[in-house]
Amino acid sequence: MDSRKEGLGWMEWLRGWMYLIYEMLFQRIMASHLHNPMPLPPLHDFTFIITGSTSGIGLEIARQLAESGGHVIMAVRNLKAAHELIQKWQTEWSGKGLPLNIEAMELDLLSLDSVVRFAEAYNARSAPLHALINNAGIFSIGEPQKFSKDGYEEHMQVNHLAPALLSVLLFPSLIRGSPSRIINMNSIMHYIGFVDPEDMNVVRGKRKYTSLVGYSSSKLAQVMFSSILNKRLPAEAGINVVCVSPGIVQTNVARDLPKVVQAAYHLIPYFIFNAKEGSRSALFAATDPQVLEYCEVLKADEWPVCAFISQDCRPANPSEEAHNVETSKHVWEKTLEMIGLPFDAVEKLIEGEEVKCKYGSESG
Ligand SMILES: NC(=O)c1ccc[n+]([C@@H]2O[C@H](COP(=O)([O-])OP(=O)(O)OC[C@H]3O[C@@H](n4cnc5c(N)ncnc54)[C@H](OP(=O)(O)O)[C@@H]3O)[C@@H](O)[C@H]2O)c1
Repeated sequence: MDSRKEGLGWMEWLRGWMYLIYEMLFQRIMASHLHNPMPLPPLHDFTFIITGSTSGIGLEIARQLAESGGHVIMAVRNLKAAHELIQKWQTEWSGKGLPLNIEAMELDLLSLDSVVRFAEAYNARSAPLHALINNAGIFSIGEPQKFSKDGYEEHMQVNHLAPALLSVLLFPSLIRGSPSRIINMNSIMHYIGFVDPEDMNVVRGKRKYTSLVGYSSSKLAQVMFSSILNKRLPAEAGINVVCVSPGIVQTNVARDLPKVVQAAYHLIPYFIFNAKEGSRSALFAATDPQVLEYCEVLKADEWPVCAFISQDCRPANPSEEAHNVETSKHVWEKTLEMIGLPFDAVEKLIEGEEVKCKYGSESG
């Protein structure tokens, strides 16, 4: 029981960096068995919500799922950009088959009210949801610490808290789509992350805040929360939780890097995936039947962590710290408190009962 740890041990930290460097150097070789783009089965009967699908990896995921026949909902903060993309994709697709079944809905993860409004609007359709892909994320490299209007450190809110709230509130739709999937776009960076559940905002001064600390902690918190969520979901609910790593991918995520570093980043294309390559693990996790079987096996074995799919579409083991069950339970409780949900929210929603959230229409 080391739930009161104040940081990663030296060895864990060093191993984390080694995994990161290894992935950066060898991801292309590890994933050389994969096609690009990833071939997808016909998806006409499936509905997908993809957050942050106006750029980078999310954009590729949305387009490819729609081109395979899926009903795609782009959950985005910039509706204008999404509508322009949809129009462009429809034009490029015309003559190749039925028009793409794709639409956009507004979602700003920096506002928990917006998350509740989105979930209420989608659940009100009484339609099934087969996969929620929590892709949107930020890594504000080199920027000072910032807080959302809800009072939370922005990496923690956008990368972990808001997707956690969205996932739980969409249970009614995910149950309708069962067997369904919650796919969390995670990162190899969670290996160097550490979460102090009593200091999710990194303000107490025990750890000095940097954007790297903010980002890696948020990604580890997501794995920890997902592991407990997976355990609390009864097999009969048919909702499967999977974290994925896209690899190291050239996207707008580097927009905050200094210009010189961005230039260097562009000079090493051999090592870095393009967005299409980076979309493969999430597409695999969202559509391949083997993933559901894998989740079932982990559940039956009472494995302490949720399924984690690596950039090469193979199962991987999350970090040592992610296996810390005591801290994970603490992160679970703290997360529910921060997103304004009661501790029995999952059980109630599975039973078909209503759950009150502190955020949403009344507070907004
Ligand atoms: N690129 C990598 O090497 C890498 C590695 C590991 C993990 N990841 C993860 O992959 C995911 C996608 O990142 P990316 O590399 O594709 O970066 P990206 O090109 O910057 O895309 C991020 C997306 O998230 C959206 N987003 C940001 N803040 C939001 C908010 N408050 N509300 C709603 N949407 C918001 C952005 O919307 P706007 O277009 O409106 O800004 C954008 O569509 C992230 O979770 C990231 O952490 C990336």
